[in-house]
Amino acid sequence: MPANPFTPTFGIVPAYMAGREDVIGELLRALDNGVGDPNLVTIVSGARGTGKTALLSYVADEAAARGWIAVNVSALPGMLDEIIQQTKKRAEHLVEPSGTARISSIRFGNIAEVKLQEAESEAATWRIRMEDLLDELAETSTGLLITIDEVREDLDEMIQVASAMQHFLREHRNIALLMAGLPTHVSALLQNKSVSFLRRANYHDLGTVEDFEVAQAMTKTIEGAGRSIGDEALEKAVASINGFPYMLQLVGYRAWEASPESLCLSVADIDVGVSHARIDMRRKIFDTTFKELSKGDVRFLAAMLEDEGASELADIARRMGKKSNYASEYKRRLIEQGVIADRGQGRLRIEIPLFKDYLKERLGHDMPKGRGC
Ligand SMILES: Nc1ncnc2c1ncn2[C@@H]1O[C@H](COP(=O)(O)OP(=O)(O)OP(=O)(O)O)[C@@H](O)[C@H]1O
Ligand SMILES: [Mg+2]
Repeated sequence: MPANPFTPTFGIVPAYMAGREDVIGELLRALDNGVGDPNLVTIVSGARGTGKTALLSYVADEAAARGWIAVNVSALPGMLDEIIQQTKKRAEHLVEPSGTARISSIRFGNIAEVKLQEAESEAATWRIRMEDLLDELAETSTGLLITIDEVREDLDEMIQVASAMQHFLREHRNIALLMAGLPTHVSALLQNKSVSFLRRANYHDLGTVEDFEVAQAMTKTIEGAGRSIGDEALEKAVASINGFPYMLQLVGYRAWEASPESLCLSVADIDVGVSHARIDMRRKIFDTTFKELSKGDVRFLAAMLEDEGASELADIARRMGKKSNYASEYKRRLIEQGVIADRGQGRLRIEIPLFKDYLKERLGHDMPKGRGC
């Protein structure tokens, strides 16, 4: 019985990446071009489960395969030290161990001179310690990629890395920085005045992926692991996934488990898979997202539910019983959280697939009431 190839676990690089070719292509070309490429500093944002961590890991693996040293951290206290430690560990074969004196040059003449370098000063700033490491990496023309996941604007160390990066780039050092986070944190970070240079960084918003990309990834994942899927079953799976990477893994994983002994995934397997996957989505994505919403956010979303397609801000405000400028504050908040998106000409849509159905179910009985008609 072939092993289940789907990976419905956060942070795991999937067997096949659905879509994301543009952002991955840009990043890998930047690594190949090296110093001076504008995409060497890239920020990606996306709602939960859109594949930010998987993307960082994928690019880090590719960078390592190209000879870069890749270090991966999350924006948490201690991050600066973690970057130094990981760099040293991964570059053990290139960088001298710190804290010990080492021979840096030997000159022969009448007198042989052995110059001993001083042990690394503990008091050195992070930037200086990094410069020393980057100098050593430069001797073997090795680049350093730092990936920072779950970026936060309120972490001092985050600001320190970003501002040091600006200097490293100015000094033409072979370094790249790839950051990812939820839209609210990314946009707050970009508003921070001390790192305004990040506003000029390459930016990608990881939304959903296209249906044909979902179909391709599903087929390749299933066939790569020794089973197959018929057209009707595939169509059903794709329609239930709505372009959401985490849902792709959930549906695939659950459908695979439905009758693991048969060679072909059937329509019935997909039906079972989808109904289990919806429960998983509810627990792992929707409940968490809902808990993070303020009362005002919920009122705003509730006012969107009666529209079949996109909603107009004026209608939402009227249903909330508020003025448009009051409602637009919540519109801004929800866009930043990646929950809604502006589809142009003020038409707003709930962006996280299936979240609208979840909200209808959850708010169905006690929908916050406005004074609208
Ligand atoms: N492009 C993709 N194609 C197929 N599956 C993917 C893709 N990207 C991520 N996944 C899968 O989706 C799930 C969620 O991915 P990931 O943990 O990277 O999301 P995230 O955006 O970091 O979520 P969070 O904000 O909660 O940290 C994982 O199971 C991962 O294997
Ligand atoms: Mg993540």
